[in-house]
Amino acid sequence: MTAQYQVHGDIAVITLNNPPVNGLGLSTRQGIADGMAQANADAAVKAIVITGAGKAFSGGADIKEFGKPTALQEPNLISVIGVLEASGKPVVAAIHTVVMGGGLELALGCHYRIAAPGTSVALPEVKLGLLPGAGGTQRLPRVLGVEPALNMIVSGETVKSDMLVMAPGQKLFDKLSASAESVLEEAMAFAREKADVRPLPLVRDLKCKHPLGDAYFQFARNMVKGMSKNFPAPALCVDAVEAATKKKFDEGMAVERDIFIKLMWTAESKSLRHLFLAERAASKIADVPADTAQRAINSVAVIGAGTMGGGIAMNFLNAGIPVKMLEMKQEALDRGIATIRKNYEAQVAKKKLKQDKYEQRMSLLSTTLSYDELNTADMVIEAVFEEIGVKEAVFKELDRVMKPGAILASNTSTLDVNKIAAFTKRPEDVVGLHFFSPANVMKLLEVVRGEKTAKDVMATVMSLAKKIKKTAVVSGVCDGFIGNRMIEQYGRQGGFLLDEGCTPAQVDKAMEKFGMAMGPFRMGDLAGNDIGWAIRKRRYTEQPDMKYSKTADLLCEKGRFGQKTGAGWYDYVPGKRDAIPNAEVVAMIEEHRKSLGITPRKISDEEIVQRLVFSLVNEAAHILEEGIAAKASDIDIVYIFGYGFPAHRGGPMNYADEVGLFNVVQAMNRFAQNPLDDAKFWQPAPLLAKLAAEGKTFN
Ligand code: 3HC
Ligand code: NAI
Repeated sequence: MTAQYQVHGDIAVITLNNPPVNGLGLSTRQGIADGMAQANADAAVKAIVITGAGKAFSGGADIKEFGKPTALQEPNLISVIGVLEASGKPVVAAIHTVVMGGGLELALGCHYRIAAPGTSVALPEVKLGLLPGAGGTQRLPRVLGVEPALNMIVSGETVKSDMLVMAPGQKLFDKLSASAESVLEEAMAFAREKADVRPLPLVRDLKCKHPLGDAYFQFARNMVKGMSKNFPAPALCVDAVEAATKKKFDEGMAVERDIFIKLMWTAESKSLRHLFLAERAASKIADVPADTAQRAINSVAVIGAGTMGGGIAMNFLNAGIPVKMLEMKQEALDRGIATIRKNYEAQVAKKKLKQDKYEQRMSLLSTTLSYDELNTADMVIEAVFEEIGVKEAVFKELDRVMKPGAILASNTSTLDVNKIAAFTKRPEDVVGLHFFSPANVMKLLEVVRGEKTAKDVMATVMSLAKKIKKTAVVSGVCDGFIGNRMIEQYGRQGGFLLDEGCTPAQVDKAMEKFGMAMGPFRMGDLAGNDIGWAIRKRRYTEQPDMKYSKTADLLCEKGRFGQKTGAGWYDYVPGKRDAIPNAEVVAMIEEHRKSLGITPRKISDEEIVQRLVFSLVNEAAHILEEGIAAKASDIDIVYIFGYGFPAHRGGPMNYADEVGLFNVVQAMNRFAQNPLDDAKFWQPAPLLAKLAAEGKTFN
């Protein structure tokens, strides 16, 4: 049983004990109901306290139970809350650390609530594409007021208990305890005080009105419109809270219930729930146990103060970890530092960073031109030019100067990490840390595990990633790792679409309508079209039979590298990022098409989306099969956090699962018939073909 029952004198204590966060799965719900029955049947018990063991009161409904039969099994959460409300003896919630979702709803069913200071309070269901489904939309407005409650429900944001108790007229918490350690004792004392007070107060009996009525809800609907673009939940949260103000309590509960069930089955909610679990699964490595001893990282060195080096350094400064940057020349260091300052100053100007914090961060940064000064750093990250000879020289120096046990990382985006490791006499200490540009902003970090990378190095960098607020995904060694290897195929398809009749703007629009943050051509302009050009030139010699459209090369031959040159697939006005279609580029594409003797055809948005997304999926299936990615969900995380794939689709693999792998394979077979496309590429990867044939999914 994952809830324990104990009697202390005349007080019964029910302790939720379902690690890690006391999710309210079936056995916990049953435990609460049983404890309540026992307490009410015991004449010696005068009052009941409910609390949580470990690091939460409760994180809410058990997300891992969603979709399983036990989720629906009685007692469900609403029934359990009904049991609390119907108790003949007072029930006090002793809340600490985390009270979220169903956990907060459970507490709202108690007669009294005592919270420890610093408790994180939220109804975060909207972040899972849901709304609170056990009375949260009906009870929270009754104790906090309609507006503050709706704000919490629609945003899902966490508010600290200390803030909430200060809200005028709030009835959410009866009291703040002195500390988290004392909350249970104080709740028991409070329960004794209230043991004989009748009638017992119920949140459901409180009034719930907004003075502006309809006008307020109209305003609220307009406010959530932007958030609701691809997600139905936020607007429906408004409907449910409005019902709390207009209907009797039980009728409001019925409205909430209907919406909750409807949302539970939407693709959007399934995607968000998938991503919640996928993100947490990504941080675990099958053969590296959670208790693997880690190396201490208290200082970091960064080699190269260019685009990436500066951004990488900022991540550590932000986390309070001192950084020493090394360059070849003082001017390069000065330039790098000036860029870091400029970035921080922009944050200060936007009031996102306080002046003293900025100064504090800069004080953690030092520079050097000498490798010998790096000998005290616990870790070094190399971000020099992408040339194997340069990397070799740098890693030989690092091998010479770094102290034993230091982690040697490379930010290479294409080179072989095993080869880089072999430049040293300690390949077990070498790992790839592939940050994405801008490195101080982008959440994704591909951790490239070399053949010889030690397990404790992996454990250390995965936990370090959390410290610097990155979402880390492990990749094996291959050209492009997970993300860029897939994007190469996506870019190739983009080229074929131009050859066959599309304009860059048409392709981008279709992909942006699908939900991508940016279509492939705007993305190329942002990243720099010269990067892809360099890779293709390498491919032309290494893989001469790989088929490419020539349009991107023609574009680069005109020097149209993208935003950095003010011109790429589109034109750009200095200081702005708006992509303005360029007639010459369109003419260039048409001319090239003519030179190939192709009669353009009208290509539907559906075909554009399918060809581009399924090209990612097919390459990803190869990546999975080769063991470069350990799980399909890791690939989804890479695309969500690194490539602007829409969260409501749950990543390319989740999207393919939703479409059905059989249908994906059928579409690929169709694309393979197109003489202007690459029939060889469209052969479904063996893993994909197998799963499709067996009616299975990636995830
Ligand atoms: N159910 C089951 N497991 C949960 C969970 C939940 N509600 N919330 C967190 N976990 C698990 C995570 O999966 C993870 O498991 P793992 O160790 O096996 O990977 C573990 O708890 C720790 O999670 P985090 O890494 O996120 O730990 P943090 O300490 O950083 O954060 C937290 C803890 C604040 C509770 C955070 O996990 C969180 O925000 N959880 C989501 C809470 C939520 O969305 N609740 C609403 C659920 S829906 C609901 O209640 C419906 C109801 O209205 C009917
Ligand atoms: P950059 O050209 O902006 O910066 C490289 C810096 O390294 C320069 O300041 C240069 O002076 C310095 N440098 C070169 N050789 C050196 C040496 N021997 N010792 C010390 N410093 C040296 O390059 P960028 O874009 O920062 O790329 C760096 C690395 O990051 C490359 O491996 C690249 O592939 C990788 N990367 C780049 C991304 C991007 O979008 N720019 C994204 C992810 C990875």
